[in-house]
Amino acid sequence: MPKSFWKNKKVLVTGYEGFLGSWLAKTLVELGSRVVGIDIIKDRPHSVLEGYRKRLVSIKADVSNLSLVRKTVIEHRPSVIFHLAAEAIVGRANIDPVRAFKSNIEGTWNILEASRGMKFIDSIVVASSDKAYGPHRDLPYYEDTTALKGDHPYDVSKSCADLLCNAYFVSFKLPVCVTRCGNIYGPGDNNFSRLMPDLFRSIARNKTFMIRSDGAFTRDYIYVEDVISGYILLGEKMKSKNLAGQSFNLSNEKPLSVISMVKTVYKLAGKKPNYKILNSTCNEIKDQYLCSSKAKRILSWKARYELSKGLNKAMGYYMNRFSR
Ligand SMILES: NC(=O)c1ccc[n+]([C@@H]2O[C@H](COP(=O)([O-])OP(=O)(O)OC[C@H]3O[C@@H](n4cnc5c(N)ncnc54)[C@H](O)[C@@H]3O)[C@@H](O)[C@H]2O)c1
Repeated sequence: MPKSFWKNKKVLVTGYEGFLGSWLAKTLVELGSRVVGIDIIKDRPHSVLEGYRKRLVSIKADVSNLSLVRKTVIEHRPSVIFHLAAEAIVGRANIDPVRAFKSNIEGTWNILEASRGMKFIDSIVVASSDKAYGPHRDLPYYEDTTALKGDHPYDVSKSCADLLCNAYFVSFKLPVCVTRCGNIYGPGDNNFSRLMPDLFRSIARNKTFMIRSDGAFTRDYIYVEDVISGYILLGEKMKSKNLAGQSFNLSNEKPLSVISMVKTVYKLAGKKPNYKILNSTCNEIKDQYLCSSKAKRILSWKARYELSKGLNKAMGYYMNRFSR
């Protein structure tokens, strides 16, 4: 990790209480940055931020409130913004699409609008997603040739947020980039409606794991610290390498079906697979995976966690937390 760039840097992280945001805020604090975090919740339990919160400024605020976002930007004058706050759960976005659109679309235009014309901001990194691409027959997804065309509420919210970043770059020269990842896993993800935390917890508790899909969906899995290193590298290089307006896929380029992932994790745990296929999902893309040769070429980024290494780290965390 580069040290000097981040020392004393003022950095705003939205969604800092979430899975990815907490890892990012923790890493930035360790690198010596002056971190300000915005989230709708405070002090989430079982967070990797435990022991770090005193070293950052926490603001309980909704990113869909423009005046609060603007006030925070003007008061704290960050030179780097990481915008991660979002309704990040596909199932919840299906139940309450308007709430997801407000957080993910309006929240993003508020961050961009509050940053417009602010000369002290050098770079803004926005968390988009592989879901922003929507369904495509030709895979993997490529940043510059695969269209953004989500179909379902969460996916559309990410396509829209992603396009808003492009509009603010093209029309107003705002220094903004987006990142697109698949399924991120690792310690500290408390979203148990997601496959990986649910799988680890089921194994730790010796419970039958319920596969909501038909098990054949292909997904791109990446360990959280690899994603964080991508965000850090992008935040650091965006200005010096003139990268504003670009998007970057972050992937370890080893897609797996859900069933293969489930069997792999049971094998690593040394347990006999114990799962049931419910085939009950709706509004989900069947196959998705990303090419990240652009991030490798331009950012010199690469995923450093082999699947088994990342899975073992995550499993250790969930086993420790749930197998008692
Ligand atoms: N985890 C993944 O696999 C993954 C993959 C691709 C993209 N992403 C994106 O990365 C970002 C972070 O995801 P995550 O996994 O950490 O999700 P998360 O749900 O753990 O974290 C999101 C955080 O945003 C906060 N938040 C939600 N709505 C808000 C609002 N209106 N105002 C302020 N805060 C709000 C939540 O309280 C939460 O702490 C999201 O934008 C998500 O769409 C995640």
